[in-house]
Amino acid sequence: MKLTFTFTVAALALACLGFQSTAPANPTPKPAAPAFKDVEAIFATNCLGCHGGERARGGIDLSSYEAVMKGGDDGPIVKKGAPKHSVLVQALRGVEGVRQMPPRRAALSEASISTIENWIKAGAKP
Ligand code: HEC
Repeated sequence: MKLTFTFTVAALALACLGFQSTAPANPTPKPAAPAFKDVEAIFATNCLGCHGGERARGGIDLSSYEAVMKGGDDGPIVKKGAPKHSVLVQALRGVEGVRQMPPRRAALSEASISTIENWIKAGAKP
């Protein structure tokens, strides 16, 4: 009788352990939000020729985080948390009334534009 009891307890304990080990140890982590360095790399390849330091067309300098957040002659181009309302994204997507960027060139890839959108959505952090 005592043996049966011990066995049952041991079996239950094993069953619990078994259950635990089949449960996912780590639920699939959400992909991390892009960092400014990811966005900076896109600007470096596509934008700095016209928006880098000395040469800041429209007053827009995309060569540093501070400068990007400052915006241009017409004000800020990034609205934290709101990519759709950010002139930066509107220019990349070609929204009416906003000059499409880069000018006279193919639009950036969907992957690049979403990297910028997701960075803004996550709060446009440095
Ligand atoms: C060939 C030069 C050139 C390149 C390359 C370029 N821009 Fe521009 N950008 C301009 C000019 C010129 C203006 C408009 C200035 C004005 O009319 O006041 C402008 C304006 C803008 C504006 C403001 C648009 C508006 O209507 O308010 C944004 C945002 C912008 N650029 C972002 C970018 C981004 C991001 C890139 C890279 C993907 C880029 N630009 C690449 C020349 C360029």
